[in-house]
Amino acid sequence: MPRIKEEVIEEILAKTDIVDVIGEKVSLSKKGKSYFGLCPFHQEKTPSFSVEPNMKIYNCFSCGEKGNAATFLQKTENLSYVEALESLAKRAHMTVDFEGYKKEDPNKHLYQINQDAMQFYEFFLKNTVSGKEARKYLHDRGITDELIAEFHIGLAPEEYDTLYNTLIDKGHVAVDLHNLGLIKRSKQETFYDLFRSRIIFPIIDEENRVVAFSGRLYKDEEGPKYINSPQTDVFTKSSTLYNMQNALFHIKKHKRVILTEGYMDVIAFYKANMQEAVASMGTSLTNDQVRKLKRYTNEVYIAYDGDNAGLDATARAIELFHQAGMQVKIILLPDKLDPDDYLHKYSPDALQEFALNKWIDPLEFQYLRQLKTIDSTKLMDIEGFKKVVFDLIKNTSNTVIERYLSKLSKDIDVSLESVKQDFEQYTKRFIKQASKTMRAVIPIDSKYAIAERKLLNYFLLDRKYFISYNNKFDELFFIDPVVRDIKMLIEDKHYELYDEDITRRITVNELMPLLNEQQQVFFQEKVYNKYEELTEAEYIDYVHTIEEYVHYLTKIKDLEEKIQTADTVEEKIKYANIRDKTIKEVKHG
Ligand code: UTP
Ligand code: MN
Repeated sequence: MPRIKEEVIEEILAKTDIVDVIGEKVSLSKKGKSYFGLCPFHQEKTPSFSVEPNMKIYNCFSCGEKGNAATFLQKTENLSYVEALESLAKRAHMTVDFEGYKKEDPNKHLYQINQDAMQFYEFFLKNTVSGKEARKYLHDRGITDELIAEFHIGLAPEEYDTLYNTLIDKGHVAVDLHNLGLIKRSKQETFYDLFRSRIIFPIIDEENRVVAFSGRLYKDEEGPKYINSPQTDVFTKSSTLYNMQNALFHIKKHKRVILTEGYMDVIAFYKANMQEAVASMGTSLTNDQVRKLKRYTNEVYIAYDGDNAGLDATARAIELFHQAGMQVKIILLPDKLDPDDYLHKYSPDALQEFALNKWIDPLEFQYLRQLKTIDSTKLMDIEGFKKVVFDLIKNTSNTVIERYLSKLSKDIDVSLESVKQDFEQYTKRFIKQASKTMRAVIPIDSKYAIAERKLLNYFLLDRKYFISYNNKFDELFFIDPVVRDIKMLIEDKHYELYDEDITRRITVNELMPLLNEQQQVFFQEKVYNKYEELTEAEYIDYVHTIEEYVHYLTKIKDLEEKIQTADTVEEKIKYANIRDKTIKEVKHG
């Protein structure tokens, strides 16, 4: 494939008004020579996104996205680079012939075969006697002819080779049909159709290509409820979501996506006038699917089935979306219903109302989920539940803490006073961890990480060390959570030995059984050295190092707050620069 000449690209970009292009999607206001607006690539309340018309670039100093008008279109409209340039050339009224530059898709013929298969299934559903019966099944489930057309739903005939013959007659070859999983080879070396006597849901990707099929039983027959196309050259199940082709526009428009488990649930939301629903098709959500969604929106509503498997899948999905920095809302349907059941039990309007107004946040979801698992007449259960809830809320705001403590007191039927006391007791030993940004930048062999590890030896040696240490740093920050956990275990052991000799040290042999395997290895390899002399002077050095570290941490935290609250873009940039410089300093500490 020839490459587009640099001069041509330059000319297109030169003739493009980048403010104009970006202005269509981001509301921009002029400040000096630059334009500013809310970054379309991440969620924010004050503008960090700048467009520089002179340099013809955009840049977000909050999330780091940058590029030119072509990359902007590429990312916001899901185009290839060539397609983006083509679109810009059109805007600039330039005549460039792009056909020769477009990559010829090596799988084009496979998509064509799937397209033909889809059309065959659709035709068969519409125009045959067995189609009539299948349509009745669909109509009875509330899937009208309009929905059948919208989702390209079809029917696979009962015979063994109707699809096979139809596609061969069209000039396709068996080996391709076989590779697409549309046909299988029998022991007698003949071919037969994979999908027989099933309602067909085609799976279409965001570029409108038919990539796979799923077939549902509709008669009282044996076999799995759905069978699916295997993995093929054009279908990777783990990165595909059902209904992306229809939902994409609505996801961008409403800035949210609804994630369901199944085909019928997507259709249910469509009936509830929420066209931004997609399905992960019954398997557990993957990072590839999360990344795909994150390209178009930062907010996801999880509407998995309300049964136990659905709840587990929801918990897992929350985790993945959080790791990707996305906002999550949970549509937790009652009575183990799935969205399609809910719509039929109540109404389309009720489903929409539930989705938009009765969603819960991940914290509440986790709270409810844990609550369901306990027997509130069992003291052990109650104690365990309290700790789980304390862990869930300890990092949150006072408002949230207040709310959940009062919820907790009601749910376990214990006075609010006593619940509050327990919470305070529990959080006393709750040790703060360094912010994620910091932990990410601190190299494992930085002097700070070494100091906190080496201090563990002193804590073992004599109770006085950790007492003085705790007094000094009343808010403690730990780079490595393993160090934090070992420190807590050492403290517990000291308390256990409290009544014994005041100078009692804890030996390594005593410590080991208290640690899990990972902690043991860590301690042996990274902390303990039996030849090392533990001197008072060195202890003081380590403490100084930690002081320095805490100083940096506080500074960075301050700066991050300032970046958040600054009134002007100029100030934000200023603070961001100082923060980055400070982080660099710590790194090379
Ligand atoms: P469900 O069993 O919840 O099906 O599986 P559903 O979507 O609610 O469909 P109906 O209402 O029973 O007709 C959820 C999804 O899991 C996948 C399908 O993608 C389905 O939509 N699945 C389920 C399979 O791939 N194979 C199966 O045998 C079952
Ligand atoms: Mn269902």
